[in-house]
Amino acid sequence: MSKSADPSVLAALFEAAKAAQSKAYAPYSRFRVGAAILTPSGAIHAGCNVENAAYPQGACAEANAIGAMVQGGEQRIAEILVIGDGDALVTPCGGCRQRIREFAALDAPIHIAGPDGVRATFTLEELLPHSFGPDHLK
Ligand code: THU
Repeated sequence: MSKSADPSVLAALFEAAKAAQSKAYAPYSRFRVGAAILTPSGAIHAGCNVENAAYPQGACAEANAIGAMVQGGEQRIAEILVIGDGDALVTPCGGCRQRIREFAALDAPIHIAGPDGVRATFTLEELLPHSFGPDHLK
């Protein structure tokens, strides 16, 4: 497992993800998720899940945080923090692991938080081993 180097950065990521989670649109699952991305510049981009009456059209918090990062003019994920409620670890779904893979190094930390704080940290490679990525298309 890899840890964020700077505790104050982790605290800022946690607060950004928590604020995003509070804006989640999750009337169907009632499962609110927030995500916050730290980029190499030190900027933080956040997103929440946005569900839809046509269920498959819903978007995960991680996907929306990535969209905010790209819209903000950045394309690298240094670290990402995901927050959800409940006792279980809210790790990114399979699709979001691949979305993160597009913009992050294999050793990028993925922090998993509950309302009380960070509960675990994994590297991208731990969550998505033997992955396919942009380099395969070069
Ligand atoms: N969800 C996320 O936003 N991110 C995750 O990592 C796991 C799941 C959302 C999708 C859906 O809106 C709700 O949580 C229940 O699956």
